[in-house]
Amino acid sequence: MTELKINGQLTQLEVSEDMPLLWALRDVAKLTGSKYGCGKGICGACTVHIDGQPMRSCITPMSYAKGKSVTTIEGLSEQGDHPVQQAWQNLNVAQCGYCQSGQIMSAVALLENNPNPSDEDINGAMAGNICRCGTYPRIRAAIKQAAK
Ligand code: FES
Repeated sequence: MTELKINGQLTQLEVSEDMPLLWALRDVAKLTGSKYGCGKGICGACTVHIDGQPMRSCITPMSYAKGKSVTTIEGLSEQGDHPVQQAWQNLNVAQCGYCQSGQIMSAVALLENNPNPSDEDINGAMAGNICRCGTYPRIRAAIKQAAK
């Protein structure tokens, strides 16, 4: 039994400590907003926040997440109306959409640390989130809109 906070709720999951957090979130906690892309820490589709920091849940074992506070895309807002989510909708950022929850979680973490990021700051913070559809210009525009 592993205890952690997920989206503000103390949660006990029946999982082994070497199970990746992404598996526990999707298959056990049934929170499927975080996506499986590469499974190797490369694409960023699985990005969640652990104690406020963006992390790849596919390569984070439950032994690390134990006792910590995890936020997934489901926990960002009640109605999908976090300012970053609203900017994403305003600018129709998503194309296929698969990578976008990870993109949004990285963008939220960026803006929490740096409320007025430059293009370089955005490029640096978002470099680990890959979008096969190439929505990068809209992602950058949405981050700037959310920063206002
Ligand atoms: Fe975790 Fe690609 S699925 S980084």
